[in-house]
Amino acid sequence: MEFLLRLILITVKLLSLFVATFGCFLKSPKRPRTSGLPAIRNRLLTLSLQELRGRLRARQLTSVELVRAYIERIEAVNPQLNALVESRFEAALVDAAKVDELIAHAKDVDKLFQDRPLLGLPMTVKESCALDGMSFAVGSLARKTIKADKDGVVVKRLRAAGAIPLLVSATPEYCYSIETDTLLNGHCCNPYNFEHTSGGSSGGEGSLNGAGASLFGVGSDIGGSIRIPSLFCGVFGHKPTGKVVTVEGHFPNSTDKDFEHYLVLGPITRFAVDLPDLLEVMAGENAEKLRLREPIQLSQLEIHYAFGFEGLNGRMHQPVDEEIKEAIARAVDHLKNLGLAVQEADLSGLNNSTEISLSGVASLGKMNYVLDAEPTEGKGKVRETLGELVRSFRGQSNYTTNALIFDLMRRTNAFMPAKKLEQYQAEAKWLIEEFTRLLGQNGVLLFPTMHATAARHKWTFFPLWGIDYTLLFNVLGLPVTHVPMGLSSRTGLPIGFSVIAGPHQDRLCLKLAAELERAFGGWCPPTPHELDN
Ligand SMILES: *[C@@H]1O[C@H](CO)[C@@H](O)[C@H](O)[C@H]1NC(C)=O
Ligand SMILES: *[C@@H]1O[C@H](CO)[C@@H](O)[C@H](O)[C@H]1NC(C)=O
Ligand SMILES: *[C@@H]1O[C@H](CO)[C@@H](O)[C@H](O)[C@H]1NC(C)=O
Ligand SMILES: *[C@@H]1O[C@H](CO)[C@@H](O)[C@H](O)[C@H]1NC(C)=O
Repeated sequence: MEFLLRLILITVKLLSLFVATFGCFLKSPKRPRTSGLPAIRNRLLTLSLQELRGRLRARQLTSVELVRAYIERIEAVNPQLNALVESRFEAALVDAAKVDELIAHAKDVDKLFQDRPLLGLPMTVKESCALDGMSFAVGSLARKTIKADKDGVVVKRLRAAGAIPLLVSATPEYCYSIETDTLLNGHCCNPYNFEHTSGGSSGGEGSLNGAGASLFGVGSDIGGSIRIPSLFCGVFGHKPTGKVVTVEGHFPNSTDKDFEHYLVLGPITRFAVDLPDLLEVMAGENAEKLRLREPIQLSQLEIHYAFGFEGLNGRMHQPVDEEIKEAIARAVDHLKNLGLAVQEADLSGLNNSTEISLSGVASLGKMNYVLDAEPTEGKGKVRETLGELVRSFRGQSNYTTNALIFDLMRRTNAFMPAKKLEQYQAEAKWLIEEFTRLLGQNGVLLFPTMHATAARHKWTFFPLWGIDYTLLFNVLGLPVTHVPMGLSSRTGLPIGFSVIAGPHQDRLCLKLAAELERAFGGWCPPTPHELDN
C-alpha cells in the first residue's frame, strides 16, 4: 500500500460520505423518476439480433424497414440524450436496400447468412473506433475536423459480416474519462435520468443502447469504458480477454506491444443472448481461442462471489451501494437454487488493488497525450500539463479537465517511484496466475462493476476513486461482462454487477449473463413500452 495514495482514498471516502449525508442541501428539488424519453412503439426495437436475423432470413422483414425503425428511434431520443456525434442515415438506408436485393435474389439464403451472420442489421459505433469518412475527433476540440480515412479492423469485420453502421457516438476527450462531457460536444445524458451521466468512455453507446436506440454498439475499454456506461445505462457490455480483439484503427493508440492487453474493443447491447455472435465476429481469427461455439452446461459453472474489496482495503474504499450488493445476493441465491457450486471468494490478494490499477495507468506512457499531437516518449511536460490543468479549472483551456488529469497521471507514473511500479506490476502478474488458478476452466466471479450507480453530471470525481473495480481487470487482462439487474428502488437508476472469468474463458461470462437475463429480465426500458404492432 502507498501511504499518500491511501490518505487520498480515505479523504475521498469521508468527503463522499459527507456529501451523501448533507448533499440533499446541495441538490435541486427532487424530480419525477421517469426520464421523459418517448416510449418504444415499434416492436422491431424490442427484438434481439437473433430474432431479427431469423425474420430477415425468412424474408418476413426487410433491412430497410429495420434500419428505418432504428433511425426513427435515434431521432426521437437524441435531442434529449446528445449521444450522437455524426450520422450516416441516408448511406445506411442505401446499404440496407442493397442487402434486401441480395436476400431477395439469393438462391441459398441459409448459406448467405452463414457467411454474413450480421447481414442487414444496424449498429452504432463509438467515435474512437474508426468508421470510414466519419468524424474521428474523439471529443477533442483540437481534432475537430479529423475524419477517419478507413474503417478500423473491428468495424471492417462487422461490416464484412453484413452489419450496417448508422452513426458514430459520443466519447469523452480521447476517451480519458468516465464521464462523456466535452468542450466539443457537450454532455451526454443518461436515458434513465437526464441529470445523470451515461458514464464513459463509451458513454454515447451506453446512452443509445439504454434508450433502445441501438441494436448493438461497438465500444472500447481501457479501464472500464465498456462496463461503466453499461452499468450506468442498464445494458450488457463485454470486455474481452486482453489481446483477443484488436484495437487497430482506434484512437488513441500506442506503439507499446502490451497495449492490446489493456485496451480491447467489445460489444454493448440490451440482449445478452447476442453477445457470443458479436464477440465471434469482432475477434476475427482469435475467436477460435475463445471456443465460443463449444456447448457448456450451466451446471458446469462454479460460482465465486464477493460484495467488494475486503479487509482494510475495502474499508478504505467508498461503500458499495446496498442495492448492488443485493443484486449480487439475488443472483447467488438463484444459482444456488439451480444446484450450482457457489462459494464466497477470498479476495485478500487484491489488497493493493488501487496501486496495481494505477501502475497499469502509468505503464501506458506511449499512448497519446492530449497536450501533444503525437505520443511522446518519456515523462516530460509535467509542468505544462499542470498549468493547462489549472487553466481548465478556470474554464480557460481547450482541453477537458479529466483528460488532462489522465495525462498527468501517466506523466508522473501515477506519483509512484519506478521501483514501486515494478513491484506492483510484478504483483499484477502474480494475480493473473492466482485468478487463473482460482477460476480455472469453469469458474466465474460475481463482483461489483463499480460501487455506485450513475453520478450526476460533473460529479464523477467520487466514482473515479472506485475505478480499480474495473481498471484492475484491464491490468489483469481478464474477460468481464456487465449484467444489468433492474433499477434502484430509490433513484430509478440501473444497478448490476460484473461476471469475471479466467483468461480466454469469455464464454463462461456470456453463458452466465444469458442465464441471468433469462431469470431476471436483463434490460429494463427507461419508459414502459407502448407497442403498436
Ligand atoms: C501490497 O503491498 C505491500 C507493500 O506495499 C506488500 O507488503 C504486500 O505484500 C502487497 N500485497 C498484498 C497482497 O498485500
Ligand atoms: C495511431 O493512430 C494514428 C491516427 O489514426 C495513426 O496514424 C497511427 O499509425 C496509429 N499508430 C499505431 C501505432 O497504431
Ligand atoms: C490483506 O490485508 C488483510 C488486512 O486487511 C490481511 O489480513 C491479509 O492477510 C492480506 N492478504 C494478503 C494476501 O496479503
Ligand atoms: C482555443 O482554440 C481557439 C481556436 O483554435 C483559439 O483561438 C484559442 O486561443 C484557444 N484558447 C486557449 C485558451 O488556448
